[in-house]
Amino acid sequence: MCGIVGYIGKREAYAVLIKGLERLEYRGYDSAGIALLDKGVFSVYKKKGKVAELKNFIEQQGKKFPPLLYKERGQEVRSGIAHTRWATHGAPSDKNAHPQLSNSGEIAIVHNGIIENYLSIKEMLMKKGYKFKSDTDTEVLANLIEDIKKNAKVSIDEAVRLALLEVVGAYAILVLSKDEPDTIVVAKIGSPAVIGVGDNEFFVASDATPIIEYTDKVIYLEDREMAMIKGGALVIKTIDNETRNPYIQKTKMKIEELEKGGFPHFMLKEIFEQPRSIGDSMRGRINANEGTVKLGGIEKDKEKLLDAKRIIILACGTSFHAGLEAKYFFEELTKVPTVVEYASEFRYRNPVIYENDLVIAISQSGETADTLAAVKLAKEKGATIFGICNVVGSSISRIAHAGLYTHAGPEIGVASTKAFTAQIAVLMLMCLFIASEKKLLNKKKMIAILTELENIPKKVEQAFLAEAAIKKVAKKFKNTENFIYLGRGYGFPLALEGALKLKEISYIHAEGYASGEMKHGPIALVDDNMPVLFIANKGSSYEKIISNMMEVKARNGTIIAIITKGDTRAKKIADYSIEIPETSDIMLAFTASIPLQLLAYHIASLRGCGIDKPRNLAKSVTVE
Ligand code: F6R
Repeated sequence: MCGIVGYIGKREAYAVLIKGLERLEYRGYDSAGIALLDKGVFSVYKKKGKVAELKNFIEQQGKKFPPLLYKERGQEVRSGIAHTRWATHGAPSDKNAHPQLSNSGEIAIVHNGIIENYLSIKEMLMKKGYKFKSDTDTEVLANLIEDIKKNAKVSIDEAVRLALLEVVGAYAILVLSKDEPDTIVVAKIGSPAVIGVGDNEFFVASDATPIIEYTDKVIYLEDREMAMIKGGALVIKTIDNETRNPYIQKTKMKIEELEKGGFPHFMLKEIFEQPRSIGDSMRGRINANEGTVKLGGIEKDKEKLLDAKRIIILACGTSFHAGLEAKYFFEELTKVPTVVEYASEFRYRNPVIYENDLVIAISQSGETADTLAAVKLAKEKGATIFGICNVVGSSISRIAHAGLYTHAGPEIGVASTKAFTAQIAVLMLMCLFIASEKKLLNKKKMIAILTELENIPKKVEQAFLAEAAIKKVAKKFKNTENFIYLGRGYGFPLALEGALKLKEISYIHAEGYASGEMKHGPIALVDDNMPVLFIANKGSSYEKIISNMMEVKARNGTIIAIITKGDTRAKKIADYSIEIPETSDIMLAFTASIPLQLLAYHIASLRGCGIDKPRNLAKSVTVE
């Protein structure tokens, strides 16, 4: 949560920072701010609300508009830090927005994370006479740095280092000091920080998206590392004062991937990208003619995968649902017992991990705090960790022993769509790899499954054809207050995911259930006002689903059914039906996800909701 961005160099820092904030806004959007350091003067602008509100506010500053100030002061080196917030300590407000300044106004800081021992540090500083204007833990850190700098008479980077030795928690911070205007300090534990290396200029951000239009050279800071960018040079060391060699990598991210490309929302663009993102996640990894799967990212650790007596999948939210769907095909095809756990629960138990357990951590961002902590716990207990992440260089991808990237491309809409189906694709490849190496699937069967998989992007295209029918359903149910989503077998995790999509972007209450569980409670909710959405494809659970639909119909419920194209029987029972192309059971997620995502999207759109940035949410959940 929270996005940080910093710049030092000869460009107009304001423009770099505001654009950077726009790119990072998916990480939090309840308030935003910028501090520009220019000829030893801080100009600080902060606003409750989205980045657009901050931008309007700054651009109405008249003569004080930052680019005009630069011109007037003839500043050579221009630096600044900026922040977009998802509130943790202190409600969203101008005063709690970052950057936070120290008491004397000497030091400005932006922070993504939580300082857990901020109260004891605050008490200590208050005894020394420090006053606090905000409710944030970040202001405490700004003052701690100031106090150390003043008393120990050290440079800003050393003051930051010494302060961090006293801090418990997770953070990525950027610090500027008035009296060292050619320096910017960055440090991290737990939260991400990427440095962009330009020609005599440096960019720092929570991810590479604000950086790639200026340079493709990036450094991913490791936990406990800090960087001093000083007088055009970069030095990296740990907060324990050990020097580190910077490892500069080239990012492959492209600028077009970060634009809406003519769609009204990123979410819609990302839904329609799925034929491409699923295809890219499989490209180079399968050979349908030969019936083989090649997974470079896990090749060296393949014995661990093949020896696993149990697979434990750890994830949160939509990624958890991808894991749940994978459990069905893992157990069906590999015969390895597979358990799927919310990372946020796993880590607070005392989980039993055996030597032959394999942990698969699934995370689009690769930064989800609970998933990261659960992975660390499992690793400490001796498990082998495979990561499935979308963001290259992210924390989970780096901490895992091995792993595979989903090549979905940047997912900007807060509601996950293309990452979900890409995760399913990669999990399926992993599953087929195990099944084929263990000779549980013969060549003929592998060729058949891989041929179907290769055709999935085309089937997903066909699933888009139902959009007109989906829009009609959306119009009919846009004012409904409650929804039930039911599915069985492979359809059950999809019912959970469909309900999650609807509630998070339309704010309609929706429950996903295993349809066999309906009569154990949820059926009491069914009356003539309750729409019940069934995933009623013609798969192995079809007959049972039809019976469940009849039970709802007998109680006057309204049925919306996602059905296999041409299925007249389910169509007759349903009040509204949405057709998807036929697939085998194991591939259902690819096609059935499309109407679930589009239905949520169109209902939210008709209700006028902020689709790409739903209230209270953030894309990268880096708090626990
Ligand atoms: C829902 C959604 C979230 C994420 C969850 C985990 O649409 O996006 O539920 O799936 O926060 O995020 P990652 O996959 O980044 O670990």
